[in-house]
Amino acid sequence: MKKPRRSAAWYGKLDKDGFIHRSWMKNQGFPDQVFDGRPIIGICNTWSELTPCNSGLRTLAEGVKRGVWEAGGFPVEFPVTSLGETQMKPTAMLFRNLLAMDVEECIRAYGLDGVVLLGGCDKTTPGQVMGAASVDLPTIVVSSGPMLNGKYRGQDIGSGTDVWKFSEAVRAGEMTLQEFMAAESGMSRSAGVCMTMGTASTMSSLVEAMGLALPTNGALPAVDARRMALAHLTGKRIVEMVEEDLTLSKVLTRASFENAIVANAAVGGSTNAVVHLLAIAGRVGVDLSLKDIELGKDIPLLVNCMPSGKYLMEDFAYAGGVPAVLAELRGKGHLRAANTVLGRDISVYAEGAECFNRDVIHSFDAPVKPAAGLRVLRGNLAPDGAIVKPSAATDALLEHEGPAYVFESIEDLKANIDRDDLPVTPETILVLKGCGPKGYPGMPEVGNMPIPKVLVQKGVRDMVRVSDARMSGTAYGTVVLHVAPEAQAGGPLALVKTGDRIRLSASRGELTLLVPDAELATRRAAWVPDAPRYERGYAKLYVDHVLQADKGADLDFLVGKDTRPVTRESH
Ligand code: FES
Repeated sequence: MKKPRRSAAWYGKLDKDGFIHRSWMKNQGFPDQVFDGRPIIGICNTWSELTPCNSGLRTLAEGVKRGVWEAGGFPVEFPVTSLGETQMKPTAMLFRNLLAMDVEECIRAYGLDGVVLLGGCDKTTPGQVMGAASVDLPTIVVSSGPMLNGKYRGQDIGSGTDVWKFSEAVRAGEMTLQEFMAAESGMSRSAGVCMTMGTASTMSSLVEAMGLALPTNGALPAVDARRMALAHLTGKRIVEMVEEDLTLSKVLTRASFENAIVANAAVGGSTNAVVHLLAIAGRVGVDLSLKDIELGKDIPLLVNCMPSGKYLMEDFAYAGGVPAVLAELRGKGHLRAANTVLGRDISVYAEGAECFNRDVIHSFDAPVKPAAGLRVLRGNLAPDGAIVKPSAATDALLEHEGPAYVFESIEDLKANIDRDDLPVTPETILVLKGCGPKGYPGMPEVGNMPIPKVLVQKGVRDMVRVSDARMSGTAYGTVVLHVAPEAQAGGPLALVKTGDRIRLSASRGELTLLVPDAELATRRAAWVPDAPRYERGYAKLYVDHVLQADKGADLDFLVGKDTRPVTRESH
């Protein structure tokens, strides 16, 4: 027997409560017939003028609505918290879990049968998927899509990646401020997310590889008419998914997470995918640990996009996009059987996929780089793990031992990094504390610390850096991130002093502080955490309940799901 529609508990009743639910909706001009028992589809929109990367989502919502109407559903668009990565202080990541709570509670509280998630900018995709996973209705994603390629003096320039390069060039005296400002105007030329393989495009590619969006969602430019068509088709499909009772947990299985990890290596995806995948897995009840991230360790880098390569998302889309990558992975047996929003195996995404430019999407046998997946590091400096992204690092520095120079806080770093007398050499390992989930709070993207000015001026462009922070998906360098436990939680990172020697071995998965245990015990006895920076509101709730990076930095009480119906009426 068919399951009764969830929305019938709101709109299917002929009593006072049903009157109230329907009558107020009718003030928008909806006729009686939309309440005839058809599927009600929520379009969960993170559009905001303060989230420029999602500025195209109002238009895409109209595309989704066309498809929902065409398939016989009733679309209703609703806003949720939007997180503008480049605009929010102290960091958008502080609010990812707030967005997830907003999405979860809205979906649960309203009379919806299925949901289309419209997100794009970095934290919006994982935040929406986390929230939706905790309610577990039929759910599908449409992403903003990347901006058109940036342009400066006839050359392509990439969001983020070239900002870091230009800013170092200004500090080295190789670029004038006027040139810097001109590049600023040419970088962001259309609606859409960062057009490098940053976190946003990583997550839109991974939701496609997990079968949580229709094929080509990952890379099609935001302003390409085919993305509007994709939104339309998604609207049609979600109505069918409701009829098929194809809920999110039937798509997000262990196998789909493994496919995401492998795809992340192949596309040269962001380190941020680690915390997001771990958090989503926690919501949906899939047993995924930091160690599993190494499933992608030996996967080669296939996509030649910044920050690991030279092209941009527009090029990736025209070369074949995610389906062409999945075809390569499938050809070598690296794509696991997994259900998708189509109700069919993920291998159908790869069927018939072609690559139209082998310099952008390399073959598995002639990759951009071999064994490019993220490495998990452990040792007495990171007992619960840390990560490094070899595809964006300097090979020679991935096996390195050197003396630490410690910044106790982000303020310490900003005040001293450009000092002419900073006692550092290219062998120095920069260490930054206080930038983990609890410490900053919110685990900002500052792990790719600037190279000290004294070294930039000598031509040094990379050195080993270690912190409990994250880094932007558009960033590069030999950067050890997500050290857990973080300094503010009393992790060994808190005990490092300038001059201590640290050993990094990516090949052995090692991060060791070469200080005797007895000395570390003495330092620990004297250690006191920093005073909390927030005493009220959501930020206090966050600091009191956030899990460490190796657990996805979700709030402890949000892990898991609650699919029980809300039985009490809206009074
Ligand atoms: Fe929004 Fe990069 S800042 S996607």
